[in-house]
Amino acid sequence: MNINKVMVIGAGQMGSGIAQVCAVSGYDVILHDLKQEFVDRGLGTIEKNLARQVEKGKITAQDKAAALSRLTPSIDLNNASGIDLVIEAAVENMDIKTKLFSELDEIAPAHAILASNTSSLPITEIAAATKRPEQVIGMHFMNPVPVMRLVEIIRGLATADEVYEAIEDMSKTLNKVPVEVNDFPGFVSNRILMPMINEAIYTLYEGVASKEAIDEVMKLGMNHPMGPLTLADFIGLDTCLYIMETLHEGFGDDKYRPCPLLRKYVKAGWLGKKSGRGFYVYN
Ligand code: CAA
Repeated sequence: MNINKVMVIGAGQMGSGIAQVCAVSGYDVILHDLKQEFVDRGLGTIEKNLARQVEKGKITAQDKAAALSRLTPSIDLNNASGIDLVIEAAVENMDIKTKLFSELDEIAPAHAILASNTSSLPITEIAAATKRPEQVIGMHFMNPVPVMRLVEIIRGLATADEVYEAIEDMSKTLNKVPVEVNDFPGFVSNRILMPMINEAIYTLYEGVASKEAIDEVMKLGMNHPMGPLTLADFIGLDTCLYIMETLHEGFGDDKYRPCPLLRKYVKAGWLGKKSGRGFYVYN
């Protein structure tokens, strides 16, 4: 299975990061979103990231220009007609994803693999919206994508071995480390990470310590690069809540109950870094 042309759907934080690493690694990339302004913003982020790497001497100006020339903007899903792989990084909403995958199934060539960067939604259910469930797979990148080495590869119930192997090989060409995981709520990454973040929020909610103290304990005591409340702000509190709800519903166990303080912040629009306020305030 040869992968040369990739369509990345969603030009936000994750999608633009995925498009960047694919383009830098030599793939032709179509960066697709609903509106031109979203695509332009994503391309702007990529341009800025690559310019910083040139400044630091990590890549040359020619490498940057070559990577940018491999990126094609798109607001028309029919552009998927010539691709080998789709990596979907749209919003975390099952209805939106199933609709998108069923459309892509009609448009993309028969050999194309349809991958989702979902952080916790069932790959098997997304695959069931297509007539090619054996070619649907989870390809879960971590934020910030250009920096983090992991790609969690999730096998849906029907995912074919050749498809798994093609995605594993491709992840290695992106200079990432692929890890194989089966399709259960939250996979491995978020099943372990999110309850830790949720517990940190409960610790704040119950007045055990200040937000700064909680973060300091986990940073200095456990050698985490960011404290859990800073990390929650970085990921987005709406995303954290959504993943906890997926775990709670998927396992039916109250140990995954989202902290009421997390719900309150999301209702207030305090979504973390992206909204300017979460547990901390950002300028
Ligand atoms: N985009 C691209 N590059 C970035 C970046 C971004 N948003 N943020 C930082 N970088 C780069 C910097 O340019 C720098 O690059 P060089 O080494 O080439 O100079 C490097 O990352 C380190 O950056 P800094 O020195 O500025 O900052 P740092 O050392 O504090 O590292 C960090 C920043 C990498 C984000 C680090 O704090 C970290 O690893 N945090 C934890 C991140 C994490 O846990 N991510 C997973 C979240 S969970 C998830 O994504 C899954 C999900 O489904 C929710």
